[in-house]
Amino acid sequence: MAQDKLRVAIIGSGMIALTAHLPSWKALSRDVELVATADILPERARLLAESAGIPKHYGDWQKMLDEVKPDLVSVCTPNAYHAEQTIAALQAGAHVLCEKPISICYKDAARMYEAAEAAGTILMVGQSTRFTSVPFAAKKLIDEGRLGEIYFGETYWLRRRGIPTWGQFHMKEHSGAGPLYDLGVHNLDLLFWLMGNPAVKTATGVTYTKFGNRDEGLATSLADSGAPEGVITPRPYDYREFDVEDLAAGFFRMEGGISVSFKTSWAANVPGNPHQTTVLGTEGGIQIDPFTFVTNVDGYQTNVTPIAPGDPPVAFPGHIGETAHLVRVIKGEEELIVKKEQVLNVMKALDGLHESARTGREVVID
Ligand SMILES: NC(=O)c1ccc[n+]([C@@H]2O[C@H](COP(=O)([O-])OP(=O)(O)OC[C@H]3O[C@@H](n4cnc5c(N)ncnc54)[C@H](O)[C@@H]3O)[C@@H](O)[C@H]2O)c1
Repeated sequence: MAQDKLRVAIIGSGMIALTAHLPSWKALSRDVELVATADILPERARLLAESAGIPKHYGDWQKMLDEVKPDLVSVCTPNAYHAEQTIAALQAGAHVLCEKPISICYKDAARMYEAAEAAGTILMVGQSTRFTSVPFAAKKLIDEGRLGEIYFGETYWLRRRGIPTWGQFHMKEHSGAGPLYDLGVHNLDLLFWLMGNPAVKTATGVTYTKFGNRDEGLATSLADSGAPEGVITPRPYDYREFDVEDLAAGFFRMEGGISVSFKTSWAANVPGNPHQTTVLGTEGGIQIDPFTFVTNVDGYQTNVTPIAPGDPPVAFPGHIGETAHLVRVIKGEEELIVKKEQVLNVMKALDGLHESARTGREVVID
C-alpha cells in the first residue's frame, strides 16, 4: 500500500542523482516512493524532479526536510556538504544514504555516526563498488578462509585523463580532495572490506598536482571522467580553479602485520585506465579484475576463474545493489554491510595519507 512505502527525497540533483540514485530508487517502486528533490541551484532540482514525475522540488534542502519529512534521504552533493546535510536529515528522523566519501575528514564522519545513533535511524555510506557480483564472490571466498593468513593487499585505479569537469570535484572547498575522494575511497573501502577491516596503524602518502591546474589542450570525455550518461547542466570548467591533487599514492601498516599499497589518479601518463585490487594470503590470492583465485591444487599452481553472476546493464550497477540492500536493512531483513567501523577506518587512512603528504613523514594513527 502506498502509505507503507518509504518516502525518499534527494539532496543534490546532479550527475549521480540523475544517473544512479533516481533509477535505483525507481527500480524499488514496490517499497519506495520518490517525493522531493533539492539543489542549491533550484533549476537542477526542478529538472531532476520533472524528469521522473517527482511532485516537489526545492532550492533549500532544509526547507525540504521540514516540509516533506522524508523517511529516507539520498545525499548526493559535493563531499564537503555531506556531513551537514546528513546530520540534518538524521535529526529530522530520516534514514540516510550518503554518497562516498562519507565526509572530508574522520572527525565529521564520527559526528555523522553519532547523529545516527542519537536519532535511531540508519546511516549508510554508498560504497557502491562493493555492491556488484565480483566483490561479493571474492568476499565469500576470503571469508571461507581459502586465502589462509592474509598479509598484503594492493589496490589502484589510475585514469590517464579523466578529471571530472562537470561539477566541483576539482575544488578543495567543495570536495576536500581530488581522486583520493573520488576513486581512491572506493578502492580502499573495497580492499579493507575484503581483508576483514584490519585497523590502520600508520600511513605514508604523497600527492601530486601535475596536470589539473594547466590547460593541455587535450580532447577528453565525460565518460572517461566518470559520467558515462552525461550530466543535467554542466558547470563551466576552469582549470585555474583546480586546487586538489591529481595523483595520490600511499602505504599503510595495519594491525597484525598486514600492509597495503595504494595509488589513484585522474591524470597520469599511463596507457588506458588501469585498475586492480589484489589480496595475498599464505594459501591463495585474489585479483578482482579479471576475477582470479590463485591457489595450488594437487601439486599444481592453479588459477581459478569463478564466474560471478553478472550485474544489471546500467551505468552504475552498484547503486542498484546498495539501495536494495538499504531497503532490506530498514525492513529488518538484512544486517548493514557498510559498517561504521569500516567507514571510519578508511577515513583514518585517508586523513593519515593527507597528513603524511603534508609533513613528508610516516604518520602514526591512533
Ligand atoms: N558512487 C559513485 O560511483 C559516484 C560517482 C560519482 C559521484 N559520486 C559522489 O556523488 C556526489 C555528487 O557527485 P555528482 O557527480 O553528482 O556531482 P554534481 O556536481 O553533478 O552534482 C552535485 C549537485 O549538488 C549541488 N550542490 C552543490 N552544493 C550544494 C549544497 N550546498 N546544497 C545543495 N546542493 C548543492 C550542485 O548544484 C549539483 O547539482 C559526490 O560526493 C561524489 O563523490 C559517487
